[in-house]
Order: sequence, then C-alpha cells, then structure tokens
Amino acid sequence: MNLAEAQSALDAGLLEARSAVETATLIDDLEEASRQFLGKRSPASAANEAIKGLSAEERPAAGQAVGAYRAAVTELIDARRGVLQGVAEAAGAEGERLDLTLGGHGRMRGHLHLITQIQRELEDIFVGLGYRVAEGPEVEDDWHNFEALNIPPAHPARSMQDTIYVQLGNEEQVLLRTHTSPVQIRTMETHEPPIYVVAPGRTYRNETLDARHSPVFHQIECLAVDRNLTMADLFGTIEAFVRQLFNNDSVRTRFRSDFFPYTEPSAELAVSCVFCHGNGCRVCSHTGWIELGGCGMVDPNVFVAVGYDPEEWQGFAFGFGLERLAMIRYGIDEIRTFVENDVRFLARY
Ligand code: DAH
Repeated sequence: MNLAEAQSALDAGLLEARSAVETATLIDDLEEASRQFLGKRSPASAANEAIKGLSAEERPAAGQAVGAYRAAVTELIDARRGVLQGVAEAAGAEGERLDLTLGGHGRMRGHLHLITQIQRELEDIFVGLGYRVAEGPEVEDDWHNFEALNIPPAHPARSMQDTIYVQLGNEEQVLLRTHTSPVQIRTMETHEPPIYVVAPGRTYRNETLDARHSPVFHQIECLAVDRNLTMADLFGTIEAFVRQLFNNDSVRTRFRSDFFPYTEPSAELAVSCVFCHGNGCRVCSHTGWIELGGCGMVDPNVFVAVGYDPEEWQGFAFGFGLERLAMIRYGIDEIRTFVENDVRFLARY
C-alpha cells in the first residue's frame, strides 16, 4: 500500500464510520464502531502497518493522515455519544416525572352523625319558637327518672321501660335514663316558671340490638310551664313544629288518647305520612299516619313533686325518638344502622 492507497483507504473508512456512527441508536453500537474503525483491524491500524513500507519522505504525511482519521472518527463517536446520552437521560427523566396536576387521594372529610344533625336541627326549630335547650345526666337516679314523674315503684310503667341499672360500689343504685323526661324534673327543680325548654339526648333501655330495637337511642323532650296553658297551646306548638320539621304546611297532626303517668290528659302524637300524604304506603304501614311520640298536660302530681303550685301553673310536655324521626325522613328501615359505624351508611347522610 502506497501513500495514496493508504489515504483513500482512510477516506473510505471515515465515510463508513460516519454512516455507522450516525445510525447508532445505543451506546453499545458506538463501542462496536470504535472497535471497528479505531481498533486492531481498523483502517487506521492497516495504514499504520503500511507506513513501515513507505519512504522516509512519505512517512510524516501518512502519519498525519492516520492521526487526522483517528481524530475525525473519535470526534464523530464522542458527538454521537453525547446525543445518545442526552436521549437516555431525557427518557429516564420522563419516566420519573411527577405530574403535580394529577388528582390525589385526598383526605376524606368527616361530618356529624345523622342523629346529631337532626338533634341540632330540632334545637334550631325550638329555639326559633322561643325555647331554651336544657340538659341532664344520662346516669340518673330513681327519683328523676321515675318517682318525681309520678311513676311509683310498683307501677307497671316501670316494666314498660326495661331499665338498665348500674351499681356504683356501695353507693345507691342508679340507672341509665330510659327517657329524656327526667330533664323536665331537673329543670323545674332548679328554675322558677315560666319554663320553655327542649332537652335532646341519649337514652337507654335493656334491649338486644336488632333491626327494630337498640339499647341506646335518642329522644327530645319538650316542656312548657306557664299560666293559662291549655291543650290548644300543646297542639298549636306541635303543629308549628312538625310543619317546620317536614318543611311542609300540609302535614297534619293526629292526637289520640293515651296514658303517661306524668301527663293528664295524655295523647299519642302522629303525623300524616309525608311519603303518601295519608293514602297509605310501606313507611306508614298503610295507615296513612306515622306515630312520633307522646304528649300531654303536665300531671299536677309532677308539679307537686318539684314544689310548684298546680293551681297556679299549667304545663304541657311531649317527647319522641330521634332515630324514629330519621328513619321516617330518610326511609331507613333498620335502627341498628345508627350504631354500627358502617362508613358507607354514615357517609350517605
Ligand atoms: N317519655 C315517653 C317515652 O319515653 C315519651 C313522652 C310521653 C314524653 C309523653 C313526654 C310526654 O314528655 O308528655 O316514651
């Protein structure tokens, strides 16, 4: 190989190298090209080999040609390596990219239990009617839960309300209040009439939890004591209240004779079914009426028990269950769902 042949072999090698390098897609392809065009069997080493047979005058030019070839091929490979590394890094970065606009799982926001919501709504309605909200303890004594409410020890009303009794060491036996009516007594014992209070709260009875019974439930009690109160005031108050509660002026109320030891006369309170408007449906058991609770004029014996003069004061009272109200309003058919803590139920209301 003379100088001219060596030069053209290097030129051809450089052309070949350029196309190999430009089409390389992997860093590994470049390693292969480096071996092929700069390694032991490359045009460069063949030309080096040929230099030995050249004249002393030709050798420097041949050496420069090999050096130029090596520099050109190396530059091609380095440039391409830079490009391929940039692509690889960009691909890696894309894979690790965080899309900050994606919606996250967020944090579920809780809300008040349905019974608490209803309790507050009822409080609001009564406060709007001029009542005050009163409270009493859930652990009660016999006097407030029964005796002062004209329910003497042997009275059958005691067994109607299956009571959970609590023994506190050697002390007197106490009980979990079976209704909110003891708050009537506590309010009258500590306040002078006139009295207009509502007392919502938790109540307990010795029941086994099932679809229709719960050992813990809620009631709201209403008590008004004033001069010259009559049953007309009781009926009018209840009517105003249920219209607001059901947000419906055509809801009708029905009072039927009933018995409670602490009211005389006593009545059972029912409202016309808000679902079928009295025509009869599943919610009202096809009667057209939904029983809400009991009411009546405060029995004179109750006034005597708290030291009020029954000749001077009259009063009316009523009480009903909040779970029942919620069940009617939302068509819930199992009372136990209120205490089961199933988030699917709780989240719905
Ligand atoms: N305490 C009764 C119950 O738990 C409900 C009730 C009836 C309350 C008549 C009253 C009332 O205030 O006058 O079933």
